[in-house]
Amino acid sequence: MCGIVGYVGKKQAAPIILDGLRHLEYRGYDSAGITVLHDGILDTRKKKGKIVEGLAKLMEDKRFHGILGVGHTRWATHGEPSDRNSHPHQDQSGKISIVHNGVIENFESLRDKLKAKGHTFNSETDTEVLAHLIGDYYATNDGAPDGIHPLTNAVMNALREVIGTYGIAVVCSDYPGVLVGARRGSPLIVGVGRDEHFLASDASAIVAHTRQVAYLNDYDVVTVESDRFDVKNLGSDTAHVQISQIEYSAEAAEKGRYDHFMLKEIFEQPQTVRNAMRGRIDLEESTTKFGGLNMTTAELRAIDRVVIPACGTSWHAALIGEYLIEEFAHLPTEIEYASEFRYRNAPIEKNTLVLVITQSGETADTLAGLRESKRRGHKVLAICNVVGSTIAREADGGIYLHAGPEIGVASTKAFASQVTVLTLLSILLGRIRMLSGSHGMQVIRALEAIPSQMEAILAQNDHIKQIALKYASCEDFFFLGRQYNFPAALEGALKLKEISYIHAEGYPAAEMKHGPIAMIDEKTPTVFVIPTDPLYEKTYSNLEEIKARKGPIVAIATQGNEKIREKADDVIYLPPTIEPLNPLLAALPLQLLAYHIAVARGCDVDKPRNLAKSVTVE
Ligand code: M6R
Repeated sequence: MCGIVGYVGKKQAAPIILDGLRHLEYRGYDSAGITVLHDGILDTRKKKGKIVEGLAKLMEDKRFHGILGVGHTRWATHGEPSDRNSHPHQDQSGKISIVHNGVIENFESLRDKLKAKGHTFNSETDTEVLAHLIGDYYATNDGAPDGIHPLTNAVMNALREVIGTYGIAVVCSDYPGVLVGARRGSPLIVGVGRDEHFLASDASAIVAHTRQVAYLNDYDVVTVESDRFDVKNLGSDTAHVQISQIEYSAEAAEKGRYDHFMLKEIFEQPQTVRNAMRGRIDLEESTTKFGGLNMTTAELRAIDRVVIPACGTSWHAALIGEYLIEEFAHLPTEIEYASEFRYRNAPIEKNTLVLVITQSGETADTLAGLRESKRRGHKVLAICNVVGSTIAREADGGIYLHAGPEIGVASTKAFASQVTVLTLLSILLGRIRMLSGSHGMQVIRALEAIPSQMEAILAQNDHIKQIALKYASCEDFFFLGRQYNFPAALEGALKLKEISYIHAEGYPAAEMKHGPIAMIDEKTPTVFVIPTDPLYEKTYSNLEEIKARKGPIVAIATQGNEKIREKADDVIYLPPTIEPLNPLLAALPLQLLAYHIAVARGCDVDKPRNLAKSVTVE
């Protein structure tokens, strides 16, 4: 959470940093701030609230100039959102300014120690303590080792005392051409331009200026100047960093003609699902293939169990993955909340495959699950969207989603791509076991039809919007489905609650009668995912049970099912597909319902309250 940007070069830093922060605002938007250095003075402007409400106005001052600077957009951890707690923070001398993404766990003991030395603090943040600690080392610096810049040396010394996570960018008024960055547990990249360099939490902040980036590793400390950067590592004598190419364009990180990123990303799904499939289907053998698994067929065949840690929407995709892998490959599969998995002593046997799923590749709990599994000697594969992210780099192998940047805080297109990739993977695992060629081919053909079927669903956007407006004032919702559609129901409920703040619960349809049905009344709508599948009659009985209690019903049904109109108040039709792929289609009307309800209620769908896109703290 939180986004940071740093710039050193020949251009004015403030507008570049501000633009970078706008692109990182999805990571946190409680407050924002920028420091620039001019004429040997650090000038800091910071303000509570989203950039447009706060910081942007402070930037209109023409005197705010300089060619070196750092900026921050905040998701509060220590201290409420306020001007005072906003970043950047200065040290005791006012010479050093820093921005920070992460949590300094031992900040209280460090603050006590610094207070005893006469330091005074202006905020409640852990970051200000780190600024003072760096400043303290800088002030008492008695000569940096050869080849290490004095500011870098102070940062390195301070970080040796720190317990916790950080991605930081630091400037010092003594050095108008030097920016220092460091990371542990929070992402940080160096953008390499011509006569200019950048630091950023992720590529979307800088892709308008350069597509060449270096991904820093944990414990790396980087000294950045306009024409070079140099990386040291706190834990080893050598640092390994290589330059990679950002694979998407600056336009991909813009809203374009859409009102919100979320809507754009919903509408991108036909294309992103195609991207997830491209080059991975082997029609000859009725199977699938992946370039980056780094596992031989023999190793894949030796797997006898799969464990999938993930969080949020990725966990919902993982649940579909469990059903898919068990159905097609007959491999026992368990999904885990990564936040639970990381601390419990879950037995993982020798031939268990650990497969983490994450859009961002930076989720702290998922990353911890990966590291814990590796520590125990297990191979870990990752299904991940963000190229070069920490999880993508630390996994032993994996599959990229190729969905492009997902910026709306509510995950949409990543879910579709995750389910697509899980379907492909389950076909591969199945075809080297007992899945017949004809069955494999049937699934492949059905999957290939999904993008155009999605286009047909998106064409119903106006109809879905009308339904959304009808129910927008309700305060409680249920989302129900069975089998593969149960995770879809969970995802529908999550989408609605995170962007509209309406209470919503997802359940397996038949579970309602074990308690939750007590909640049903004429003001509590239920969204039923009820395709024409082998369990249709049973799900229909569940629907009747809700109707008998006067609950309004929105049915997401299969085209051709006219009978459902007799019971449902509203119907959204999906094209027919095979059972396992229905959630790929059902997710779209669920996303659109949530979107239109949230917009009707005046909510900021791309930046919902209390949330951030990448959850890089525990
Ligand atoms: O980046 P990840 O997929 O690891 O993120 C996991 C969750 O934080 C994420 O899916 C979250 O639940 C979204 N806000 C859901 O829309």
